[in-house]
Amino acid sequence: MPFIIDGKKVSLQIKDELRAAVSALKREKNIVPGLAVVLVGSNPASKVYVSMKEKACAEVGVYSEKHLIGEDVSTEKLVELIKSLNKSGKIHGILVQLPLPGHIKEEQVIESVSPLKDVDCFHPYNVGRLLIGDPVMLPCTPAGIQQLLLKSGINPEGRHVVILGRSNIVGKPLFSILCQKSAGANATVTLCHSRTQNMKEITSSADILIAAIGKPHFVKADMVKAGSVVIDVGTNRVDDKTAEKGYKIVGDVDFEDVKNKVKAISPVPGGVGPMTIAMLMKNTVNACISQTGGGNQGE
Ligand SMILES: NC(=O)c1ccc[n+]([C@@H]2O[C@H](COP(=O)([O-])OP(=O)(O)OC[C@H]3O[C@@H](n4cnc5c(N)ncnc54)[C@H](OP(=O)(O)O)[C@@H]3O)[C@@H](O)[C@H]2O)c1
Repeated sequence: MPFIIDGKKVSLQIKDELRAAVSALKREKNIVPGLAVVLVGSNPASKVYVSMKEKACAEVGVYSEKHLIGEDVSTEKLVELIKSLNKSGKIHGILVQLPLPGHIKEEQVIESVSPLKDVDCFHPYNVGRLLIGDPVMLPCTPAGIQQLLLKSGINPEGRHVVILGRSNIVGKPLFSILCQKSAGANATVTLCHSRTQNMKEITSSADILIAAIGKPHFVKADMVKAGSVVIDVGTNRVDDKTAEKGYKIVGDVDFEDVKNKVKAISPVPGGVGPMTIAMLMKNTVNACISQTGGGNQGE
């Protein structure tokens, strides 16, 4: 059996450390980190993600505020709300749950979040800072993957890392993190996408293969190198009549097919997912510390 990279366990350790930091902030400086989550419309998956984030805030001791906005809100109204949250002394992190309804100008909304409160790290300023190796904060899922590797004793330095998927949320920022000239990075990174040719040849040369494409069970045993490490980011709903909800969540990797060939593998669920939320908490606490400079929070 391979080593199972346990994201749930690692995320609990991180949340424990954060809980201690949050209670010290409250005790010593009377500061409580605050996160505002903005949810537009009633996308069922988004609702689930938002409630998981609220639960994590409660666990760590972060104040959370949920703004539920009707589907038909205009871009201007949404930007107005975000600008008021930018000014709030109680709020140190702002998260706009994506995707937004089609009529909303997503770029305009993302750019209206103050870069200092942009705990998702989606603002173009923060994306640029990340790329030049001087990040304000790190994007949650990619940072969660790096931490999951490091805390499982797997250092990407000098290794060939192959990432499947070039989205702005996972693939591209993960590339930016792992190729940096810094500890815990320094990897040789190859980024693959739907136009990549000779995919199997490339994935089979990976010391660490990270799949983030949104295709259930896409990665099979004949695509991985023996003794390599596989990280599965995919979160795909597939029909399952035996499940209470009528579906189950599976990754982009065919776990059963791949597991006996690799040295270590992260499962779905229980791998990258919990790490993403732990990193959101970490960004919120760090944003609070840098915004307050240790001083009292205002209104
Ligand atoms: N666990 C977590 O916290 C977390 C966080 C975010 C996302 N996810 C999951 O991760 C997966 C990817 O999400 P995303 O937002 O990054 O996806 P996305 O925006 O849909 O992008 C998918 C990427 O995969 C590439 N792709 C699609 N089919 C491919 C194929 N057959 N071969 C090679 N590349 C292919 C696409 O290539 P092109 O660019 O050429 O179209 C694109 O770059 C989803 O299952 C999502 O639910 C999980």
